Parts: sequence; structure tokens; C-alpha cells
Amino acid sequence: MGQNWQFIQAHCTACHSAAIVTQNRMSRESWQASLRWMQKEQGLWPLGQNEKIILDYLAKYYGPQTSGRRRNLPTHLMPTKKSK
Ligand code: HEC
Repeated sequence: MGQNWQFIQAHCTACHSAAIVTQNRMSRESWQASLRWMQKEQGLWPLGQNEKIILDYLAKYYGPQTSGRRRNLPTHLMPTKKSK
């Protein structure tokens, strides 16, 4: 969890679970488009200056480059056969 997560939680979990946010990986533009859609169709309030903070956060932690898989373990941390 990054700085400002409480902030995202306060704005983004009022109508749906946080999972709907955290399961997504999108570019900043797509996140913004989602916000616009919610504002237009779902009654999401205007975010004003907070929108930048929210988009910065989402793009950083839930951007498309963040792969769902963790990185491979470095070789020296891989289990070896003899450690059974
Ligand atoms: C005023 C209510 C409301 C608020 C606040 C809200 N949402 Fe939503 N959001 C919705 C609704 C309604 C849906 C559709 C839910 C469903 O399909 O179950 C949705 C769906 C979504 C989806 C899935 C959309 C898709 O294209 O698949 C994402 C991602 C999302 N919200 C992100 C956010 C984020 C990030 C915030 C905080 C800035 C937020 N929501 C705040 C109402 C809201």
C-alpha cells in the first residue's frame, strides 16, 4: 500500500468493494475514463483536485506494467533438491 491509500479507500469504496479497484490494471487514461463513466452513469461525485492524487496513485500501483505475477525468485533463493 502506498502513501494516500486511505484517501483512495475513502473515495472509492463507498459504492463498491475495494476489490473492484484493486483487481484492475489500467493506464492512467483508462482509469480516468472509468472515473468519467462512473461520474456520468453512477453518481460518482466530482473529485476536483483530488482526482490528480487518485489517478497518480492508481497509475502507479495499478498500472498496466504491474504484472499480476510476482517476479521470479533469484536463483540463490530457489529451493534446492538437497534441502528436503
Ligand atoms: C457513487 C458510487 C461510486 C463511487 C464513489 C465509485 N464507484 Fe466505481 N463503480 C460504481 C458502479 C455502480 C460500478 C459498476 C459496479 C458493478 O458493475 O458491479 C463501478 C465500477 C467500477 C470499476 C469497474 C469498471 C469497469 O470498467 O470494469 C472500477 C475500476 C471502478 N469502479 C473504480 C472506482 C474508483 C477508482 C473509484 C474512486 C475514485 C470509484 N470506483 C468510486 C460506482 C462508484
